[in-house]
Amino acid sequence: MTEKRHLKIAPSILTSDFTRLGETIDMLNSSQCDYIHLDVMDGVFVPNISFGFPVIRNIAKRAAKPLDVHLMIVDPDRYIGVLRDAEPEYVTVHYEACTHLHRSLQNIRANGMKAGVVLNPHTPVSGLEYIAEYCDMIVLMSVNPGFGGQSFIESTYRKISETKEMLQRLGSKALIEVDGGVNLTNAGALRDAGADVVVTGNAVFASEDPVATVELFKSL
Ligand code: DX5
Ligand code: ZN
Repeated sequence: MTEKRHLKIAPSILTSDFTRLGETIDMLNSSQCDYIHLDVMDGVFVPNISFGFPVIRNIAKRAAKPLDVHLMIVDPDRYIGVLRDAEPEYVTVHYEACTHLHRSLQNIRANGMKAGVVLNPHTPVSGLEYIAEYCDMIVLMSVNPGFGGQSFIESTYRKISETKEMLQRLGSKALIEVDGGVNLTNAGALRDAGADVVVTGNAVFASEDPVATVELFKSL
């Protein structure tokens, strides 16, 4: 029997209580999560504004887990240098928000961070064909970005398989992350379809015991 592959878990703090941010980071530090997922929104690329780089720098000082920064902003190149101070492990930018995606990814790597591309639900995987070799992570949005707590879009399973097939064909070791509407019911199937990392916002923060919920995700 082949050994079960464990998912990496990246809780998103988007729907957490921002008046208790320090406690939230301490709680995640004490959990079995693999990354802390930070959703940066500019009110232009997505219809919502979340938090920005001064907040991320403060989170970085308190976080014992690696940061996974998801930039839902137009022209993200403007902020890559600023992000460097927070030393995130991953910085991911949207395919739809970068005119010169190759340049953006190189910019992230040149600043010592791992680079990823995020695809909105309507964006085909084939767009990654010529850029995958510059990616350390591919993020598949399984909701339309902008808000936590939305329903999972089912076509994501097919998209994971297509992404996996393409990465294998190209010899890429990029991780596949799924972001949006992930819960304890669909996470196992996402892993089986080929996901390496899942982002979990509401499923963790609306639960009675977030630390125990992360543990349940890890035990899948
Ligand atoms: C959506 C964000 C997600 C989201 C995850 O724009 O990128 O990270 O907040 O939260 P849930 O799990 O609640 O969909
Ligand atoms: Zn996200």
